[in-house]
Amino acid sequence: MAMSKGSIDYSEPEYAKPQDRAKVPYYNIDHRLVPETQQLLESYSHIAREKQLKHIHLIRDKAWDIRAYPCICLGSWLTPQLCRLPIYDDILGRVQGGAILMDVGTFLGHDLRRLAYDGAPSDKLYGVDIVNHFDISYEFFCDPDRFKGHFIQADILSTTSSELGALKGQVDVVLVSQVLHQWDWNNQVKAVEALATFTKPGSWIIGNQIGNPVAQGVRLKSLSAIVWRHNPDSFTKMFEAVGTATGSQWETQAWLRTFPEMGWDAKDGAWMEPNACVIEFVARRVS
Ligand SMILES: C[S@@+](CC[C@H](N)C(=O)[O-])C[C@H]1O[C@@H](n2cnc3c(N)ncnc32)[C@H](O)[C@@H]1O
Repeated sequence: MAMSKGSIDYSEPEYAKPQDRAKVPYYNIDHRLVPETQQLLESYSHIAREKQLKHIHLIRDKAWDIRAYPCICLGSWLTPQLCRLPIYDDILGRVQGGAILMDVGTFLGHDLRRLAYDGAPSDKLYGVDIVNHFDISYEFFCDPDRFKGHFIQADILSTTSSELGALKGQVDVVLVSQVLHQWDWNNQVKAVEALATFTKPGSWIIGNQIGNPVAQGVRLKSLSAIVWRHNPDSFTKMFEAVGTATGSQWETQAWLRTFPEMGWDAKDGAWMEPNACVIEFVARRVS
């Protein structure tokens, strides 16, 4: 896990290194098992409701032992995100029409399963992650025999993965949620340049990350990391910079949401800087 700060070769954040569960103050996720997710686990994964709490505890603990991302013990992976985007029906329609969707930083592949549950052909779905969360992904959704999506273990910034290489210029929708915010401005630009190499005119890059009404670099003391917080203007500027560097052109829409608007708790951001919120985005490649 390369982590030299300030250069592009730190591909995973330092704060994801293993931590003792007992020392984490926010480890209760039961209230995050919302009715939509209960239904998904019941109807798609065939897990009876009375067994679901035990099941999510098991998966949370296994995931935490792989990487200690704050979102794991906040349970945000149990609250539907992709399907709350206003263009979700368009995304689903594109995949149903044969488009390829690649979820970068897929973690448990939860957004991919929701797409499959809603009728997307799962063989059109790709999940990329730098570390293997895929075994527990199948365990979580109980679908190794049914889910035909493709999981690729690779660093999105890597130029050496042949599986990723085969997707260059082929992807219609790149989903990247809760990933880019782990980097500072320069490295977010470089990461989006890397994402752009998978696209073609007409492709979209969509998702969300932690943002702030005031665009700024933030030093998170609790995580010993410097990260860039976007507002909609700075997000648009980032895609302009990516367009200039890659010879592509993008139309970008981005907007801010509060944590409660995401279905999360207001206090979930208490360890971050003041006014931290979520920025959702849709960037359409024009040329
Ligand atoms: C905070 S989780 C977000 C999970 C999911 N996208 C969501 O919104 O709930 C970040 C994920 O990105 C993965 N990741 C981090 N750096 C990566 C990289 N350089 N290339 C690919 N995946 C990466 C992590 O392993 C982790 O699964």
